[in-house]
Amino acid sequence: MLYRRIAKPVFFKMSPETAHHVVIGGLKYAGALPGGAATLRGMYGVKETEDLAVDLFGLHFPNPIGLAAGLDKNAEAVAGFSSIGFGFMEVGTVTPVGQPGNDRPRLFRLPPDEALVNRMGFNNLGAESMAERLAALKHRPVPVAVNIGKNKTTPNEDAHKDYEKCISALYPYADFFVVNISSPNTPDLRKLQHGSELKSLLEAVRAEMGVQAAKSGEAKSVLVKIAPDVSDEELEYMTDAIAASGVDGIIATNTTISRAGLTHRNASETGGLSGKPLRDRSTEVIGRVYRQTEGKLPIIGSGGIFTSRDAYDKIKAGASLIEIYTALIYEGPEVNRALHAGLRELLRKDGFRHITEAVGADHR
Ligand SMILES: Cc1cc2nc3c(=O)[nH]c(=O)nc-3n(C[C@H](O)[C@H](O)[C@H](O)COP(=O)(O)O)c2cc1C
Repeated sequence: MLYRRIAKPVFFKMSPETAHHVVIGGLKYAGALPGGAATLRGMYGVKETEDLAVDLFGLHFPNPIGLAAGLDKNAEAVAGFSSIGFGFMEVGTVTPVGQPGNDRPRLFRLPPDEALVNRMGFNNLGAESMAERLAALKHRPVPVAVNIGKNKTTPNEDAHKDYEKCISALYPYADFFVVNISSPNTPDLRKLQHGSELKSLLEAVRAEMGVQAAKSGEAKSVLVKIAPDVSDEELEYMTDAIAASGVDGIIATNTTISRAGLTHRNASETGGLSGKPLRDRSTEVIGRVYRQTEGKLPIIGSGGIFTSRDAYDKIKAGASLIEIYTALIYEGPEVNRALHAGLRELLRKDGFRHITEAVGADHR
């Protein structure tokens, strides 16, 4: 209520990107203040419960609700975000070298559609800068994934080198990695999802993960984040190639370039669409990946989750964990407690004692 009644009307008067910076700045400041994280936890934290805690990728997730990539691109507010009820978070997308991203405006609200369109273009401060910030973190209450991409000026034939550089610069500081080949805002990035480019990229990523694991003595997981805008045949190929590559999981899905069913004038803006209109397609992709891999490849579900029912639908379709971004903008941090309480209730009603029993339940 606090967010929707007081903060949201103020934020929604600002340009979306200014509001974004105010949120990041506020959480960074609050998280760094003595007692700040505890205050945030008191206001918005989610109490860990046995039924929703998940052990996966060798990590403990106190709850299955994560912050999706793109909000904390530079890992500036990890303490703040981990105190407002998230069970894990992604930082990034980070590229080897810092880059400014696309010209502004590049982020648009579509309030009647409960959606956003963005064409940020991986604006970030670069891998070394992120490594310094993550290294300085004293305490990590939840797993932090580093989402990695390629610089805009790197041609696709050299893309693997950018992913390798990000992995080597950030390996000690990431709990796991996400290979982003699905943003629509870096020219040709999505081509890396197809054909031999996908196979050779994943081979390079796996090799670099192996090198870093040997060096540090610690094996970590790497996932691949995929787009919803693919044909059934393309998705089948991608899923096969990803499963065969030996990576540890899939994030489904990134934003869409589809504009079906929108009412707001900002639908005409170029970029990736997130929020409610993406919900059903991303759930469908999760279901297809789960079926094809017979539930053997863990899936993190992302796309249009606003309610516990939305989250539960993705879990039953096959997601082991879920993530939100756009709902946080529209509903505020209160959404995490609502999702958590609602998920517990939905599990209980269906007779499941633990969330893992519900994962993929649609297919049984
Ligand atoms: C403004 C904005 C920036 C984003 N930036 C990234 C990014 O850098 N990397 C990435 O993998 N996904 C990025 N995403 C996609 C989100 O992580 C998420 O997958 C997508 O928005 C769908 O979830 P949602 O409907 O809950 O927002 C971004 C989304 C938004 C709205």
